[in-house]
Amino acid sequence: MAAKSKILVIGGTGYIGKFIIKASTEAGHPTFVLVREKTVSDPQKSILIETFKTSGATLLYGDLNDHESLVKALKEVDVVISTVGGQQIDDQVKLIAAIKEAGNIKRFLPSEFGIDVDRHNTVEPVISFFDKKVKIRRTIEAEEIPYTYVSSNAFAGYFLPTLVQQDVTAPPRDKVTILGDGNVAGVYVSEEDVGTYTIKAVDDQRTLNKSLYLRPPENVLTFNQLVSLWENKIKSTLEKVYIPEDQLLKNIQESPFPANFMLAICHAMLVKDVTSNYELDPSFGVEASEIYPEVKYTTADNYLNAFV
Ligand SMILES: NC(=O)c1ccc[n+]([C@@H]2O[C@H](COP(=O)([O-])OP(=O)(O)OC[C@H]3O[C@@H](n4cnc5c(N)ncnc54)[C@H](OP(=O)(O)O)[C@@H]3O)[C@@H](O)[C@H]2O)c1
Repeated sequence: MAAKSKILVIGGTGYIGKFIIKASTEAGHPTFVLVREKTVSDPQKSILIETFKTSGATLLYGDLNDHESLVKALKEVDVVISTVGGQQIDDQVKLIAAIKEAGNIKRFLPSEFGIDVDRHNTVEPVISFFDKKVKIRRTIEAEEIPYTYVSSNAFAGYFLPTLVQQDVTAPPRDKVTILGDGNVAGVYVSEEDVGTYTIKAVDDQRTLNKSLYLRPPENVLTFNQLVSLWENKIKSTLEKVYIPEDQLLKNIQESPFPANFMLAICHAMLVKDVTSNYELDPSFGVEASEIYPEVKYTTADNYLNAFV
């Protein structure tokens, strides 16, 4: 069997990055994490960084803004996964320049982990944000860097603990707000599964220069189906308040950031049907649960049990 690729994660101390590191070390990949020196002294993050070390990951100090540190780190590995946050999407051009100079990277997974930014139907402020990810895709392709784009759709932990309600900390027990008519399917994927599928893709020729779509079939659910799952669990029928699209668009325009961003993502996913409304074709992408049937993913149904 071929040796497992050595993986560098940039952004490992972020929200999704820690799940990628966990999946990488658990799958037996030699795993390296680029961390900023100042982050090690952050009380919360230092605890997380200790867990990386305990799991066998190797820390490398560096920064997206420090070219030499990037090239040095890249030379240690075969694959680089960026999980940098929304504020750093543009800065990944610096990582691309370092990958070109290092010359040894077999696969680059840029910070995507959401809706396919080449196939969306969104409104501002999401359009401008997605445009940044598109620009990074086109730069990677122009530089002929081998890539995989992980279109993970919605992180379960972002949407299910509130059942996609604004300004609440638990799923509703009396009244639920439904965007549009509730008949559009969204896709919810647990963060652990995002990590598992992402790591499976790095050494897989079927995902080379393609998108990996995460659409586990039991988690492709209309909002009405999601509400019904929840109602069955709490053995109660919720009052339904429907927000028509024109009202939602007005709410997006009138809300400050980041509420407008979250509403615009929900508009894309739950009204404009951008996560599952197109057939996948092997020429541009493959579906994770289809090519990795051995992964026992967390269903949205099971995920919701924790909140009953
Ligand atoms: N599908 C969904 O539901 C969903 C939800 C949220 C996010 N996302 C996507 O997931 C991706 C990751 O987002 P996230 O929220 O997980 O990110 P995040 O929590 O904001 O984490 C950002 C990471 O980038 C690191 N970083 C920042 N500046 C850096 C620099 N100059 N050099 C090196 N590292 C730097 C941070 O390190 P420090 O610890 O040192 O600050 C941190 O590890 C994004 O593409 C985002 O759009 C998707």
